[in-house]
Amino acid sequence: MTTGRRPHTCVFGLGWGDEGKGKVVDLLCPAFDLVVRFNGGANAGHTVCVGDETFALHLLPTGVLHDDVIAVIGPGVVVDPIALIGEMDALAARGVEVAPRLRISDRAHLVLQYHKVEDQLAEQAADRDSRIGTTARGIGPCYADKMRRSTAVRFTDLLHEVGLDDRVAAIAESRRAALCATYGDGGVIDVESIVKDVALARERLRDNICDTTRLLHESADGGGTILFEAANGMLLDIDHGTYPFVTSSSTGPHGIGVGAGFPPTWVGCAIGVAKAYSTRVGSGPFATELCDDIGDRIRKRGKEFGTTTGRPRRCGWFDSIACRYAGRLGGVTDLALLHLDTLSGFEEVGVCVAYRYEGETLTTPPASASVLEAVEPVIEFMPGWCEDLQGIRNFDDLPQNTRNYIDRIETLVGVPVSIVGVGPERSQTIVRGRLADMIDLKRLGPATHVTQ
Ligand code: IMP
Repeated sequence: MTTGRRPHTCVFGLGWGDEGKGKVVDLLCPAFDLVVRFNGGANAGHTVCVGDETFALHLLPTGVLHDDVIAVIGPGVVVDPIALIGEMDALAARGVEVAPRLRISDRAHLVLQYHKVEDQLAEQAADRDSRIGTTARGIGPCYADKMRRSTAVRFTDLLHEVGLDDRVAAIAESRRAALCATYGDGGVIDVESIVKDVALARERLRDNICDTTRLLHESADGGGTILFEAANGMLLDIDHGTYPFVTSSSTGPHGIGVGAGFPPTWVGCAIGVAKAYSTRVGSGPFATELCDDIGDRIRKRGKEFGTTTGRPRRCGWFDSIACRYAGRLGGVTDLALLHLDTLSGFEEVGVCVAYRYEGETLTTPPASASVLEAVEPVIEFMPGWCEDLQGIRNFDDLPQNTRNYIDRIETLVGVPVSIVGVGPERSQTIVRGRLADMIDLKRLGPATHVTQ
């Protein structure tokens, strides 16, 4: 971070994904020169509204909608080229040409059809308790190939590997045999069409592939400012999340070094995004889950259905233990607390302040998923509010009970709430403190909004 310049900034999720990171990135983009994705793949998702039209983005960084921003897909992302081309074409059909502003790392890995097939077959074959509930986008199998090395395909290979098509055909063939042996079904792998996908990726994305690591370093050296957009959520992190019910990448600011080739020590601002309640899709422990009418009401009011898979999201009270843990892992400097409007109309609102397990009080999440599954949340209830918050633009105009709720979360998590979300539109946001300098809501206008 250099004095007088905006700090390079990371936006990351403090939960199990779907916190609304896309909306926060969208608000911040005009203050940055580059926006970078550094982890995950098409398992992420945000809904983008351009004018009257709504569509989902999974791989393109949210910032790609801002004309002046260069969008970067870093080395740590696993990219399904066919899905990416689909997103680029869908935007182009609506008059948004992203190709000239998109850079894909030559070190990033390709997700191919056999990864997706393997993801699906492994999930189907697992028994109910061990099923992860993946998005079936081939993320885990592609990262496994990356670690295995000999069966990995990177973007640089599209440009430089002589005989790549033959190698891909051989990998696809052997994957089919392996899947047949394991699951009795690998026949859906179509070797010829996979080789065609690779050819299409080469033809369509060739001009977008470059050394993004060098690009980021040179941009920072020249005074450019960079916004890093983490995908998924800290509680889904491969090392620190609710393992094994996690994704396969590093999902917070700590992933920037690995996934973007950019020193995390150069990043001066880490904005952690959380909803005013908790949600989770897929399997895994969820201490504050509400499997009752209240959970249903939150789901309905918050439109909590997955962008990537359409699955209903599990809903529960805000979990300050999980949120504080996630924030500390990411060195969070500011909180963005979204969806406050969704909680309007509840007589009381709950916040988890500790876990109880076998007579002990826990103030950080345990490593074991089965222990976390068994903890009892200690919920503190606070008076709710019934006012509609969506038209409120000043923090001081929020109902007293809403402000009390925000203050309590600030105290429990230990970080200032700098962004408050009171509705899905860009304009339905209250910005406080030092971030007010980075986010100019008036300049952004109402035309485009992003939700997750
Ligand atoms: P995978 O990333 O598709 O392997 O899925 C692993 C777990 O992470 C599953 O429970 C998914 O539902 C969850 N997951 C992955 N990405 C996201 C996301 O962006 N939002 C919410 N859940 C996600």
